[in-house]
Amino acid sequence: MKGVRASKGSRSLNQGGTTECGEPSSLVGRKAFLFGGGTMARMIKIFDTTLRDGEQSPGASMNIEEKVMIAKQLARLEVDIIEAGFAYSSPGDFEAVRRIAHEVEGPTICSLARAKPEDIDRAWEALKGGPRIRIHTFLSTSDIHLKYQFRLSREEALKRAVEMVQHARGFVEDVEFSPMDASRSEPSYLYEVLEAVIDAGAGTVNIPDTVGYATAGEFGRLIRGIREHVPNSSKAVISVHCHNDLGLAVANSLAAVLEGAGQVECTINGIGERAGNASLEEIVMGLRVRKDVYDADTRIRTEELSKASRLVSKITGMTVQPNKAIVGANAFAHTSGIHQDGLLKEKSTYEIMRPEAIGLAQSKMVMGKLSGRHAFRQRLEELGYKLSDQEFDHAFERFKRLGDQKKEVFEEDLEVIVSEEIAKIQERIVLKSLYVESGTGTTPTATVEVEIDGRLVKQTGTGDGPVDAAYRTITAITQTKSRLLSYAVKALTGGTDAQGEVSVRLEEDGIAVSGHGADTDIIIASARAYLNALNKLAFRTSKLAESRQKVGLI
Ligand code: KIV
Ligand code: ZN
Repeated sequence: MKGVRASKGSRSLNQGGTTECGEPSSLVGRKAFLFGGGTMARMIKIFDTTLRDGEQSPGASMNIEEKVMIAKQLARLEVDIIEAGFAYSSPGDFEAVRRIAHEVEGPTICSLARAKPEDIDRAWEALKGGPRIRIHTFLSTSDIHLKYQFRLSREEALKRAVEMVQHARGFVEDVEFSPMDASRSEPSYLYEVLEAVIDAGAGTVNIPDTVGYATAGEFGRLIRGIREHVPNSSKAVISVHCHNDLGLAVANSLAAVLEGAGQVECTINGIGERAGNASLEEIVMGLRVRKDVYDADTRIRTEELSKASRLVSKITGMTVQPNKAIVGANAFAHTSGIHQDGLLKEKSTYEIMRPEAIGLAQSKMVMGKLSGRHAFRQRLEELGYKLSDQEFDHAFERFKRLGDQKKEVFEEDLEVIVSEEIAKIQERIVLKSLYVESGTGTTPTATVEVEIDGRLVKQTGTGDGPVDAAYRTITAITQTKSRLLSYAVKALTGGTDAQGEVSVRLEEDGIAVSGHGADTDIIIASARAYLNALNKLAFRTSKLAESRQKVGLI
């Protein structure tokens, strides 16, 4: 019902943002934006449009429940405004805007509406009753759009923009107007439209770089031009909405902040139409980390950023590129040995922000061929291994060799390297001699002599074949309960005198190990492989028992 006013909502009188002390920042000279000037940081409003422009990413549509879930996470982030959808566009969007306006506490909830009465009425229908609500209406101002898309003259467009802002103001106090394609509009006409819509009651004027065409210098100058040439510009918050077609959305938004913009429209993970919008996390951390340059900050609880990024990625199915700033999997991962060494000595050597600031537990050291001794020792200590110098040197050499073969050396690889190296140095069971009798018409028999912890033991046993006889005898001597998972033999070179290499895999108590042995006699190679695996098992199971004892399980 037109004429019914919504509650006052969050429309504020802050002109281009307020300082932390509440002083209208428009009173703070441009110099202060650039050089700090001793003033407190301006608070920039974060207008999140993940649920509206973000949903315009191809394939990223979300259902109502998912939108509510994301809106609640945006509220935990403490964004100032959530653009919850475009109520007129579909019943689903209408319902999402309605539910978010009523269920999500904290931020102002906004619906987009074209500059048409039916769109604005629908936005109001969805929002009404919500504690903090805004209608965001838009119409293009560039000649390209007016001529080819809207078929309106400049005069007609200006008149419609003013009428629709007034129409929206009939419902709510908090109205935002966007001159679409502003960055390609003729500045003098843009100024004229902005002046008229501010007079008509728009509390926020949002300047979109709709097609991501502007450069940072141009966009900054555009915002400065608006502040200088729109006589009533200080009565509205100047907002910016940048697209990323040339990869400049964040740079352009930050350039606009330097020139006095008080609101930035952005999305989680930078999703949005075509190449996306400015990324919220990059804007927020850019302002936070370089407060010295921007003299501006936001109210965002940055520790919620990582969670928000994962949630949006999971729901939209849009994976975050690993090297994405702030929230990419590699944003806090260090690979170079030089960097890892520096980081272990002092975090600030290679980190300009702490991973905890965005809600991550810690930075990641990627173990691989570039890692140095310092990082390798640190990781082994984290895994509970304290090696002697000799053991460490052996293990490090093997780690480097493995790093050349594998992109990343994982924890399990390190466990194997360490256990194999230590097992090699501390072999508990050593083969001393082996004699096998087999042939047609005889039962294969093996006589095995091993040294176990320095004690010589000799035994004879039989089996289904010579290898089986040797293995059964070794099992009897060592009294092990392991299961043979696999056995493979291959010739290392050609010819009947070739070395045979035997590989086995054993399992005991859920621990699986592999063993290798080589000899020109494949029965001896088989025995060596089996004993090699038994030595590793002995090491791994004693390590397991030690750690269980430590945590009181046995
Ligand atoms: O990119 C754009 O111009 C928009 C407007 C609706 C603000 O998304
Ligand atoms: Zn947009």
